[in-house]
Order: sequence, then structure tokens, then C-alpha cells
Amino acid sequence: MSARVLVIGSGGREHAIAWSLAKSPRVAEVIVAPGNGGTAVEHKCRNAAVAPTDVAGIVEFARTRAVAMVVVGPEDPLVMGLVDALDEAGIPAFGPSAAAAELEGSKSHCKEFLNANGIPTGDAAVFFDAAAALEHLEALSAVPVIKATGLAAGKGVIVAETKVEAAEAIRSMLLEDRFGEAGHEILLEERLRGTEVSVLAFCDGTDFRVMPLAQDHKRLLSGDGGPNTGGMGAFYPSPIATSELIDQVSREVLAPTLAALARQGRPYRGVLYAGMMLTDTGPKVIEFNCRFGDPETQVVLPLLESDLYEIFEACCAGELSTTDIGWADSAAVTVVMASAGYPVQSSASVPIAGLEAAAAAGCKVFHAGTSIGDGQSHTAGGRVLAVTALAPELSDASEAAYRGVAAVSFPGAQFRSDIGREVQT
Ligand code: AMP
Ligand code: GLY
Repeated sequence: MSARVLVIGSGGREHAIAWSLAKSPRVAEVIVAPGNGGTAVEHKCRNAAVAPTDVAGIVEFARTRAVAMVVVGPEDPLVMGLVDALDEAGIPAFGPSAAAAELEGSKSHCKEFLNANGIPTGDAAVFFDAAAALEHLEALSAVPVIKATGLAAGKGVIVAETKVEAAEAIRSMLLEDRFGEAGHEILLEERLRGTEVSVLAFCDGTDFRVMPLAQDHKRLLSGDGGPNTGGMGAFYPSPIATSELIDQVSREVLAPTLAALARQGRPYRGVLYAGMMLTDTGPKVIEFNCRFGDPETQVVLPLLESDLYEIFEACCAGELSTTDIGWADSAAVTVVMASAGYPVQSSASVPIAGLEAAAAAGCKVFHAGTSIGDGQSHTAGGRVLAVTALAPELSDASEAAYRGVAAVSFPGAQFRSDIGREVQT
């Protein structure tokens, strides 16, 4: 039977998910809501104008179009309960329930969960009141990280260098409404030192399978300078991702997390993303995300040799332990091309040239902030494209991705020149 799948989201991550699903012989059509200029023209894919947070609209759309499975890309609809609403309507959905997604939706809840289950993480205190938070700050010996507890589009964490900066961050959240409701409860968290790594796993409620561990680059500029972004590129393999490390994170973090959630009656189905800091005293959880990473997905899914649709089905059915998941023995690099002004300012839409040339150079160009008008692609967002290439060696994959980047052009394009080139260990 050929299935119609609905993918929720509009980023490069969702383009990669849709493209990978479309390769399945079991999938007849992938509809992406709302999608972007890339998913509009991808083989077997089309877009539908439904907003990711329109829960009722998505349920209705899926029902009337006889959608066999809904795959939810971003965190907001998960935290809002989209998967619960789809479940109630009897529509299979890949992604955690709202109760399970609370691990990402509330950082204070996540911290409490980690501590209650003996999962390694930094010390933190929670505050609603600015005066109490400022008093606590004064008493601390080191400058903490200030975190809005709720979802703030990846911007709610302030890594302050001084207590003055930390105090400013506290005031901006608790007194000046900087992140709205999301910042009315904050964490003052011990600053962890070390290398950061993200461990992502497919989960079926009981079992989990770790994906190839891609490392992303969050800073805007080459050499890890400039402001934090959603991610400017990613590469695989990373020299820090040893099998010992993956075993340790599986044992100390993923397994106890899934076991505790199942015990609490909120089994985790979907992708669990553990953001880890490799400290002198072992790996510690910085945060959980309840979804695939962006741009990590744009290097990980091109390496998948198995059928993504069947993996998602197995996750929904609790059958992951009997499902084959094969990965190519290859390196992969993705380089994000962003608009002028990203991540601070948005910029006007401009035409994009050279997409066919990048494809002809052997790259897969995943679209993020793009739209199509009169057959021409235009920029329509901060992160515009992720240009991915595979090769047996990392250095060749990086060279190949940069040949693709060189073929693409649009006014004001920003990209890092060191993705997969100067690998940190
Ligand atoms: P998040 O929005 O939770 O992904 O956090 C953004 C970034 O802030 C992380 O990727 C880390 O680089 C940094 N960060 C968060 N918490 C800590 C911490 N406790 N110590 C050091 N850096 C942190
Ligand atoms: N690349 C980081 C994230 O998806 O949160």
C-alpha cells in the first residue's frame, strides 16, 4: 500500500525529512505544511498552506486527505499537543506527546526530571522573582547561565561572562518581559565547561537507537566567532564521538530517561535529542530537545540506507528493536547559507542563482528560508539553504560541499568557510 505522509514544518530539517521519506517505495506522496521553496518541487513532495501550530487545522487536513502518518519537525506543535490531538483522531504521528515533550518545553521541569532520576546535569536554581534571583546571583561564586524556562525560539539562554551581564539578563526576563511568558520563570544554572556534543536517538517508548553523531557549529563566523545562531553547518564523523562516549550517554542518559518517562505513563516516541557537555567529571545534560536537530538532520538523513518511513512506523508501533537501521560508511558535511543580517535582522527577499549547478556538482541542496515565484527561488528567511555533500573522507565531503556553496549565489549570502575543515577535538 502506498502511503501519503504529512510533514509539519518549513525548515531545512523538514526538507531533509521529506526528501528521505520520498525515497521510500512505501510512500506515494509527502505533503509538507507549510514547507518551503525546496519541498514545493522535491520529487513526490508538495506543500500545503497549513500552519504548524494550527493543531485543529492539521488534524482536519490529515483526516480529509487520508494521511497515513504525520511527522512533526519543530518543537512548538509537539509541546502544544499536536501528537495527542492526532492520536485522539486515530492518525499515526511520529513525535512525542505533549507530556513527553515537556522535557524541551519547560527547562525547569527538565531539570527536576534529571535530578529526580540521577541523570548527570549542572546544578540550577529556579526563580519567578527578580529580587530573589539577584540575591542568589550575588551569593554564587561563579557566573551562572541564565535560562528562560519556556520555548524562546532557541534564544532563551544567556551565557553571561560577568555578574553584571547576568543581572541584566535576569532583569530583562523577569522585569522587562524579554521572552514573554517563556521568561517569567528562569533558571540560574551552573556554567559547564567542555566540548558540546548532541546525541540523537530514534525512540519507540521503550527502546532507542542512536543516530550517527553529527556535530554542529552554532556560531555565525568561521573559527567559532560571532553570535549564536540556530546552526551554521554540521559534519560527520566527529572525532569526539567515540563508541565509548555513545555507550556512556546511552547508559547514563538515554536509557534512564526513557525508562522514567515510561514509568510515569508518558512513553517517549520520536527523536530524543540530548545536548551534552563533556566536562572533566563526565558528560552532563545541557538540555533535551524533542525533535531532530537542524542542520544535523541535513547530514544524518543522507547517510541513512534504510527506509525512514519504516523506522517511523516502528517507532510509532513500539517495534524498534526488530527494525534494521543501516547507515552509509561515509562522511557528510552540510554548510548553511544565510541571509544578510542573520541572526540579528531579517532582510528583503532576493533571487537565488546556481541551485542547478550545485546539484550538478554532486551536492544535495536542502532549502530552509526560500520561496518560489515564477519558477525562480528567492530567499525568505534567515537560514536559506543547507548544502550537503557525502564522500568517503571528511575532508573530501567538505571540499565537495564548498564546491556546491561556490556555485550558489544570492546578494548578502553569509556562510562559514570552516565546516568540516578544522575539526575540533
Ligand atoms: P539551548 O538554547 O538550551 O540549546 O542553549 C544554547 C546554548 O547555550 C547551548 O548550546 C550551550 O552552548 C549554551 N549553554 C546552555 N546551558 C549551558 C551551561 N549550563 N553551561 C554552559 N553553556 C551552556
Ligand atoms: N542544531 C541545534 C538544534 O537543532 O537545536
